[in-house]
Amino acid sequence: MAPGPLRIGIAGLGTVGAGTVRVLRANAGLIETRAGRAVVVTAVSARDRDRSRGIDVSGLRWHADPLRLASDPEVDVVVELIGGAEGTARALVEAALAQRRPVVTANKALIAIHGAELAAMAERAGVALAFEAAVAGGIPVIKALREGLAADRLQRVGGILNGTCNYILTQMRETGRDFAAVLAEAQALGYAEADPSTDVDGIDAAHKLAILAALAFGRPVEFGSVHVEGIRRIGAADIAFATELGYRIKLLGIARRSEQGVETRVHPCLVPAAAPIAQVEGVFNAVVAEGEFVGRLMLEGRGAGAGPTATAVVGDLIDIARGSLVPAWGASSGALSQLFSVPMSECRGGYYLRLTVRDQPGVIAEITAVLRDCGVSLKSMLQHGQADPAPDDASQGAVPIVLVTHETREASMQEAVGRIAALAVVLDRPTMIRIEPG
Ligand code: HSE
Repeated sequence: MAPGPLRIGIAGLGTVGAGTVRVLRANAGLIETRAGRAVVVTAVSARDRDRSRGIDVSGLRWHADPLRLASDPEVDVVVELIGGAEGTARALVEAALAQRRPVVTANKALIAIHGAELAAMAERAGVALAFEAAVAGGIPVIKALREGLAADRLQRVGGILNGTCNYILTQMRETGRDFAAVLAEAQALGYAEADPSTDVDGIDAAHKLAILAALAFGRPVEFGSVHVEGIRRIGAADIAFATELGYRIKLLGIARRSEQGVETRVHPCLVPAAAPIAQVEGVFNAVVAEGEFVGRLMLEGRGAGAGPTATAVVGDLIDIARGSLVPAWGASSGALSQLFSVPMSECRGGYYLRLTVRDQPGVIAEITAVLRDCGVSLKSMLQHGQADPAPDDASQGAVPIVLVTHETREASMQEAVGRIAALAVVLDRPTMIRIEPG
């Protein structure tokens, strides 16, 4: 006898929730064929029952309190699309797992911060905790790392994990405008949130990177050890200098395994303009992974939006309908390794440093003396033209210079930047951007 339909309860009917209902209905026949049984929404919960969402919810059980989904007898799987690492979202996921109900979520903050305990709860309950939609929307990267690459030892994973930042940086490069102007326009067009800090300060990308690093290196997810910097300090001048030097600026998430352990960091990077990741523009995301046997691969696609994110949610539901049960982090909680988190101060790389300095004799000598004393080797330097003479004293005009270093330790570079910033001839806060091979 064919199994009965898998009954879904969805908490949160925003863009992704409504998109999930739409995909399940539009592709019902195809999903039933692939899952071996029908997958149907039976219950929903959202803040406002009367809001127009472009989907018909009239035949569905409605719960004003999302927690009721966890114990609804007509719900087999709870889909959490509320968002946020704490509060109702966390309470609902815990309640569903306590009731031995599988959970599908798109909640990156919840998984990045509480994913280890939640996976242990799911294991004890013998049910799935699935979160394909939490990282890079429509790119099936969780499955790619956890299942497709399960045979290999990965050395590196990361990429462009935030579409809002990539859109802003792309617009800055294409139009020559500054960060604030592009952000304001992106907000007006609905591409950036009214409060953009989670995106532009790198937090959203850091949540996703923490999840990718845990999967790639088989260790418990550890958001607290991710070094996070956003894109607010990138100016139009940096974009122009980067282009002149043959680079593009991207906000990258980087997780790398070394002899010391694992480094995880999110920050703006200069990447060679010819590198594949530099070609990923606008709202697109890209994930790069590198393993001993597989070599290097890159997946590119839409990291947000109703359709792409809903396909990830429904893909997880199809796995559950098929009866597939994969450990959330690729191995049981007790089998994960305790790799050391390498602090940012120990990371290595080349650096770009933009300074605004007085245009007078001896300035470069003072700056290079600091670099020498900190053991940082200079690779190249750019200065264009000359400062306009100030009316009272021709030596006081300001001019931008850019220094590019050879590979060095972050701690040495931070020391050098601190000392350079304190020089009287340096007129503004320096902008330091790390250089990555791409
Ligand atoms: N706000 C994210 C982005 C999508 O801009 O990529 C959801 O994580």
